[in-house]
Amino acid sequence: MSRATVGKLAAYEDAGGEGFTPEGEAVVYLGAAGGERAAAIARQATSVLAVEKSPVAGLRLVERAKAQADLVPVVGDARQPEAYGPLVPELGLLVQDVAQPDQVEIFLDNADRFQPERGYLAVKARSIAVDRPPEQVFDRARERVAEEAAVREIVSLDPHHEDHVMIVADFDGASP
Ligand SMILES: C[S@@+](CC[C@H](N)C(=O)[O-])C[C@H]1O[C@@H](n2cnc3c(N)ncnc32)[C@H](O)[C@@H]1O
Repeated sequence: MSRATVGKLAAYEDAGGEGFTPEGEAVVYLGAAGGERAAAIARQATSVLAVEKSPVAGLRLVERAKAQADLVPVVGDARQPEAYGPLVPELGLLVQDVAQPDQVEIFLDNADRFQPERGYLAVKARSIAVDRPPEQVFDRARERVAEEAAVREIVSLDPHHEDHVMIVADFDGASP
């Protein structure tokens, strides 16, 4: 399989992560792009609310969701969770893949608002800083998440996604 065809969650599992089990869970997926992977999760989960900022990708997401009632598309900004908050059910899992400089804060803001049991944050080092070694960026991201939740795992997504990690955090009453 080529590098590009492996999503972040699949790369995490491939790298030996404990696993992503959406069965029976309500999921919020931030950075859904055209929704291909969010749709696959929705087939296992009870529902996926998929948020995508780009209007072009968002249109594909909306088209895809027409065929799948358990995939709820939101063309909007994950920095504004108040805009889609009313659509979010009691949340099990938060997944984020937005590749933005403030990706850790976006994740924590959404977690604070929606109180998931567990969150999966795909961190792209170069989106946060090009002038620091990725390991330093990952350490800081892990430390910041650990201020709000119990970090369960940090798993490198190499070789599928260079200089990325998945941070898995438990929010369910697990704040340090
Ligand atoms: C790395 S791609 C996601 C790929 C997708 N998760 C997949 O597996 O196919 C990052 C996506 O996040 C979206 N994005 C970036 N900033 C965002 C924001 N603030 N809110 C929502 N989506 C955002 C981008 O438009 C892009 O589609």
